[in-house]
Amino acid sequence: MAIRQLPPTLVNRIAAGEVVERPASVVKELIENAIDAGARHIDVVASGGGLSLIRVTDDGSGMAPEDLSLAVERHATSKLSGDDDLTHILTLGFRGEALPSIGAVARLTIESTLRSSDDAYAITVDGGRKSPLKPAARSQGTSVEVRDLFFATPARLKFMKSERAETGAIADVVKRLALAQPSVAFSLTMGERASLRLPACAGGLIDDTLSRLGRILGEDFAADALPVRAARGALAVEGFAGLPTLHRPNALQQYLIVNGRPVRDRLLASAVRAAYGDLVPNGRQPMLVLCLTVPPDEVDVNVHPAKAELRFRDPQAVRALVVTALHEALGRAGHRATASLSHMALQRMVRPGSMPSAPWRPAPHGFAEESQAPLGPLAAPSGDMRGASRHDEPGTAYPLGAARAQLNDTFIIAATGDALVIVDQHAAHERLVYERLKRAFANGGIARQLLLIPEVVELDGEAAERLAAAAPELERLGLVVEPFGASAVVVREVPSLLGQGNIKGLLRDLADELHDGEGSLVVAERLDHVLATMACYGSVRAGRRLNPEEMNALLRDMEATAFSGQCNHGRPTYVELKLADIEKLFQRR
Ligand SMILES: Nc1ncnc2c1ncn2[C@@H]1O[C@H](COP(=O)(O)OP(=O)(O)OP(=O)(O)O)[C@@H](O)[C@H]1O
Ligand SMILES: [Mg+2]
Repeated sequence: MAIRQLPPTLVNRIAAGEVVERPASVVKELIENAIDAGARHIDVVASGGGLSLIRVTDDGSGMAPEDLSLAVERHATSKLSGDDDLTHILTLGFRGEALPSIGAVARLTIESTLRSSDDAYAITVDGGRKSPLKPAARSQGTSVEVRDLFFATPARLKFMKSERAETGAIADVVKRLALAQPSVAFSLTMGERASLRLPACAGGLIDDTLSRLGRILGEDFAADALPVRAARGALAVEGFAGLPTLHRPNALQQYLIVNGRPVRDRLLASAVRAAYGDLVPNGRQPMLVLCLTVPPDEVDVNVHPAKAELRFRDPQAVRALVVTALHEALGRAGHRATASLSHMALQRMVRPGSMPSAPWRPAPHGFAEESQAPLGPLAAPSGDMRGASRHDEPGTAYPLGAARAQLNDTFIIAATGDALVIVDQHAAHERLVYERLKRAFANGGIARQLLLIPEVVELDGEAAERLAAAAPELERLGLVVEPFGASAVVVREVPSLLGQGNIKGLLRDLADELHDGEGSLVVAERLDHVLATMACYGSVRAGRRLNPEEMNALLRDMEATAFSGQCNHGRPTYVELKLADIEKLFQRR
């Protein structure tokens, strides 16, 4: 077939395919234009999933009639200065592609009035056909209306998802841009009523954005969000990190913003994963908002047709900053668990109509009477806590309070001045042991303890081989194993922190952990998992009776340990019920 030059309308439709993928892309481009025009209020209306109508109205600078006519031409932009420099982009747009692309595939009408002028004009582009300018009636800013999206490209129309899905995508775009631009007021109307109304926030992101955060990421998030703020050289990051117990099945609730532009970025996403690491359960994603400020010449935004991705000139510096900032914020949160969990617990509490048969009976002084041998890793604090229940009692001033009782040999019940705290003893202790193991490893070595009688553990041949192959690495973690016959290993030393619990169980789990990998390498790669497995075996089991000293020691330890608000599997280690809420339950308030 002979080669021919394509007609301009077709060229434009093809180009539009890159910029306008779905209705939400139109909404994104129009809001970005409004932001670039300095708008303080942006109103978005959509119906039919954005396919029948999208209208974005702003109170920005507006356009002079000659600019309005140029705006719908390809490669016409007011945003690049005369020196044609793509390394100093300070605006969200810069290509002059969005409006002509939209005009090529839909019926586009723009009305605009230049600030400082009384005259308004309108222009229409219908499937790529441009009509002459007409006078219009509007007093400020610009309104862009897009009808019958993709009517000119029916093939694309076939790829639209359900109206609900497209509507959801539009809402997502508005939320992302609204978080990126907290000082601009937004409204989104789909159907009859405004589905989102966000007044402008004064001040910086950190100080005044919490209300917007609540509206967008949910009150759960706002209640538990940890402020993040760090800078290194010209790079800065600020935002809010969700507590690790607040996780979601996907990354939709991660809002990453670079220089006011919401982005999807592999590097940033992986930095987030690294920072949260083993604090969130496998396959789950934390919630957060991170706003990065990067000098414009250190980032290339011209690498993706919808400008959703970017490239950093110094990716390592960006990654390091994000990881450190998040780590610091999460570490500062220490033992805090989620407020929402406590709320949930409260809602689950029932007020029985009659006295139930007691599921647990406290010992006379609130504690189980007989106490067992003290827990290895727990140091007993001084002071007798028995029996007392006064407000000024020692211990109640601590964040996790004074231990009062043990429930079912599994949960510690403690009281602070104004709350009841329930701790899962195994989950909590497991986290403490894990953090200690990690620290010891980082500080040069995990202390070992010689077993008086070496323990022979029977496994299947392959598992024994895997453990034997990893022996040098395991030794650095405090576990000394040697091959013993064809299908067993003998354990001679274990980390002192672990005591002498279920060594067989530990080795079986470790052998599984080392599955599909190569000996020593796999231990290094999965260090956190291996240590977590050890911690699990080294910690107080549910079902173990604790004495008051042991319980209080555990509580004090939790307060002093970073990340102790959740166990290694991302489950919470404690919940707190405020006295005020308990009073509400009993209708005392
Ligand atoms: N809401 C608006 N208010 C004022 N001027 C606008 C508005 N929308 C568009 N313009 C003007 O029209 C021009 C073309 O807009 P268009 O979105 O097509 O390209 P761009 O924003 O320059 O670049 P990009 O294609 O990267 O978005 C802009 O450069 C701007 O001057
Ligand atoms: Mg634009």
